[in-house]
Amino acid sequence: MATVTLADIRKSYGALEVVKGVDLTIADREFIVLVGPSGCGKTTLLRMIAGLETITSGELSIDGRRVNEVEPDARGLAMVFQSYALYPHMSVADNMGFALRMAGVGKAERARKVGDAARILQLEPYLERKPGQLSGGQRQRVAIGRAIVRSPKVFLFDEPLSNLDAALRMQMRIELARLHRELDATMIYVTHDQVEAMTLADRIVVVNGGRIEQVGAPMEIYASPATAFVAGFIGAPKMNLLAGRLLRLAGGAAVLLEDGTTIPLPLAPPLAEGEAVTLGVRPEAVSVSAAGPLPGRVTVVEHLGGETLTHVEIAGNRLVTVKTAETAPAGVGEAVRLAFDPARLHLFGPDGRAVPLHSPAASGAAIPLRTRKHD
Ligand SMILES: Nc1ncnc2c1ncn2[C@@H]1O[C@H](COP(=O)(O)OP(=O)(O)OP(=O)(O)O)[C@@H](O)[C@H]1O
Ligand SMILES: [Mg+2]
Repeated sequence: MATVTLADIRKSYGALEVVKGVDLTIADREFIVLVGPSGCGKTTLLRMIAGLETITSGELSIDGRRVNEVEPDARGLAMVFQSYALYPHMSVADNMGFALRMAGVGKAERARKVGDAARILQLEPYLERKPGQLSGGQRQRVAIGRAIVRSPKVFLFDEPLSNLDAALRMQMRIELARLHRELDATMIYVTHDQVEAMTLADRIVVVNGGRIEQVGAPMEIYASPATAFVAGFIGAPKMNLLAGRLLRLAGGAAVLLEDGTTIPLPLAPPLAEGEAVTLGVRPEAVSVSAAGPLPGRVTVVEHLGGETLTHVEIAGNRLVTVKTAETAPAGVGEAVRLAFDPARLHLFGPDGRAVPLHSPAASGAAIPLRTRKHD
């Protein structure tokens, strides 16, 4: 059992505040993924939870007990870092059991715990090897093994897979999902990787400039980003975001883009005529169509195998990305017109916050079907 609660957590280095009041309740056995741009405070948050960094103000609780002043060792958590820093002269088994030996755990008990972790991580064949005789993925598993043997209630991961190549990352991602099921521990995981965030998380926490922008299930954040920042951050390729002004029309509303194109909205939002807005549309909700309202010219076509990204330049040197299956809808240099699926438009007000454009029933239908994570 381990719930983790952050209440108005702040961190300052001198006069510089880098974590600016974070409130978050993490449920027992939840897999929480923190994402956000470099420097937004993810590692600082994790280190404060771990006890490696003092908390300037606010309260951190584990299972309802304040732990701000509790030593790292006594918090019942274990942290896995990006650089796994194994002891090169020690075997895999000794690396994994080192913390237990330091804690005075007996040899038999140590061997049992290391054996259990090795089984879970499929490291049994390598226990007598030195780290230098392992692949990157195997080393990363040893680093995770070091955390597992301590039977923590909470695992903290700081970009544990970013040193691995794409294939290994995918393999380790699947193993982490399995590990989470098998260990039934609470996991707090920091990553830059969209796919890791989308596939591993029960809930994603999007952090920006030391604050939480949005917390939600992966598909909820993908389908209904609360801010233009989240819209642009979650999803690869990113959502197309186009600046414009709100036009109120008889019986509806539209966005007047900078090039003079008007894009009708499915619902009149509660904004005044002329307000600065941002129209958002994911690349899969844009199509090339002779009847489309937005003119442009194809500049680059990227064939990724199963999908193709067509980048279309519109007025003002802006690019709009269109995502299709294998074939591109037009060739490089071709003049095209773009149409947006009205059911999948997003609108952000002058403050960058999402303005509802769809009745709840309609927006439900607009959520793209994706298989959901590891269950
Ligand atoms: N010891 C320190 N003294 C002063 N500023 C610091 C210190 N440690 C971190 N910072 C600043 O705090 C901010 C948050 O850093 P943090 O390491 O938490 O970012 P991050 O989100 O983990 O970024 P990345 O994705 O690059 O790892 C940064 O602007 C960083 O420069
Ligand atoms: Mg970091």
